Amino acid sequence: MSNNLKPLRLGVNIDHVATLRNARGGTHPNPVAAAELAIKAGADGITAHLREDRRHIRDEDIAAIHKAIDVPLNFEMAATIEMVAIALKTKPNAACIVPERRTEVTTEGGLSVVGQEDRLADMLAPLKAAGIRLSLFIEANQADIDAAKQIGADIVELHTGRYCHDVAGREAELNRIQLAARHSASLGIETHAGHGLGFDTVGPIAAIAEMEELNIGHFLIGESVFCGLEAAIVKMRHLMDAARNNDRHRKNA
Ligand code: PXP
Repeated sequence: MSNNLKPLRLGVNIDHVATLRNARGGTHPNPVAAAELAIKAGADGITAHLREDRRHIRDEDIAAIHKAIDVPLNFEMAATIEMVAIALKTKPNAACIVPERRTEVTTEGGLSVVGQEDRLADMLAPLKAAGIRLSLFIEANQADIDAAKQIGADIVELHTGRYCHDVAGREAELNRIQLAARHSASLGIETHAGHGLGFDTVGPIAAIAEMEELNIGHFLIGESVFCGLEAAIVKMRHLMDAARNNDRHRKNA
């Protein structure tokens, strides 16, 4: 791997294993077992979102997943007093702060850091003090990255939803994500990306040299209906690595 290419980790988001379990109210499929299988298949980390309405992951899932896994837990949460308290009790590797609305189907858009710097800095200071890495899920724009730097974020996760879903605007959005990744890395902020990524869309995002982690959930859990979770993750990992290697060849040419 060339010097300017950092290793790219895959974080597997297991929220929708819990969605499926909750549909029947029992214990199957078990998100802890899914997390263990994901790690066996090559996941470098596990991501789980404890939403205010507990529609998928529940409090006891977070505790059980954290206890069971030996890779970093990326705990997605809204910036609320309740979630900060749970993060402080859990002590995940990272807390990824997302905007959250009860009526949304999934996390729509990134966190607006600009204009909320003081509120977020005050709310999230205890996480940093406890040694939990602070990640902010934002749109790919320079202003929010600068504001993230100002409040001491260790990581920005760039929202890839528009890139994945707006086919006509994909090229322009990819360009925005590339520029944003370069900007955050230049400020010393670790750069992640996620939302909506699948086999067809992961390559160009994985090829961004500054990218250090992709968090992928819905597609992998959906694809596992057809080929199993392990095979879906192995294929995703392969596509990420292939895109990274192609990028290296292009850069070294
Ligand atoms: N990253 C963040 C911050 C998210 O909120 C989500 C969705 O929960 C993901 C990544 C994964 O998105 P998807 O499930 O669409 O792959």
